[in-house]
Amino acid sequence: MRLENKNIIVTAAAQGIGKATALTFANEGAEVIALDVNKEKLNELSKENSKIKTEVVDATNKSDVESFCNKIDNIDILFHAVGFVHHGNIMDCDTEEFYRSVNVNIYSAYLMTHNLLPKMLKKKKGNIIIVSSAASSVKGVQNRFIYGTTKAALNGFVKALATDHVSQGIRCNAILPGTVETPSWEGRVQMSENPKKAREDFIARQAMGRLAQPNEIASMALYLASDESDFVTGTLNLIDGGWTL
Ligand SMILES: NC(=O)c1ccc[n+]([C@@H]2O[C@H](COP(=O)([O-])OP(=O)(O)OC[C@H]3O[C@@H](n4cnc5c(N)ncnc54)[C@H](O)[C@@H]3O)[C@@H](O)[C@H]2O)c1
Repeated sequence: MRLENKNIIVTAAAQGIGKATALTFANEGAEVIALDVNKEKLNELSKENSKIKTEVVDATNKSDVESFCNKIDNIDILFHAVGFVHHGNIMDCDTEEFYRSVNVNIYSAYLMTHNLLPKMLKKKKGNIIIVSSAASSVKGVQNRFIYGTTKAALNGFVKALATDHVSQGIRCNAILPGTVETPSWEGRVQMSENPKKAREDFIARQAMGRLAQPNEIASMALYLASDESDFVTGTLNLIDGGWTL
């Protein structure tokens, strides 16, 4: 029970990394509130673990986030996993797509943190974990122009936040996964011209010859959420099976 008595909000919790992390946190004794835009899948999560509370919140919507956060008194940890993968280079990314990625990948992190941080500051303790990506300031990846750009911004976000609030009991760290076998990854594979080849190509570029599983990312999240990592802040934690070696 590494997270007993911790109140944790997990975003993008209906599937993939967010879901695996919400379940791991709850199994370790945390009180978890799972947020997502997908009500149906949130209901499935509640069925898997009835202790997890769920709420439909669009993390890019100011009034949604504000009205949810206004109801929260006691929060220890925010685990923020909302993100969107745009496929293409700069010429494939028009203004609308540019702002969509900025909105989903950066603005959501700002909105959630901006509304929850004051509650953590009041307690003089808080912990924010942001899911970034190895495809960011760490590694250039083909056809991930706006994705890599926005994830690099999140790495800056984590450093800035950690620096500003280190003396006020707030920690902020990022998790930078490589390629993780999640429903959205599967969707990207299926949308390609040749899904079988796309899957093989993804796996071929993995140094360990396999993709990560969401539970493996959740294990790192568990360490960062627990008091075992109390001396850790401002860090960018790669978990990429050696992809960036
Ligand atoms: N899968 C990978 O290979 C991989 C690699 C590196 C980083 N990441 C990052 O991990 C995070 C999670 O990715 P994933 O592949 O596990 O998830 P996913 O794409 O499978 O699921 C994302 C979830 O987020 C929800 N969501 C989308 N927009 C939302 C919003 N505005 N408000 C609330 N919920 C919203 C969706 O409904 C969905 O349940 C993302 O930030 C992604 O960029 C993923």
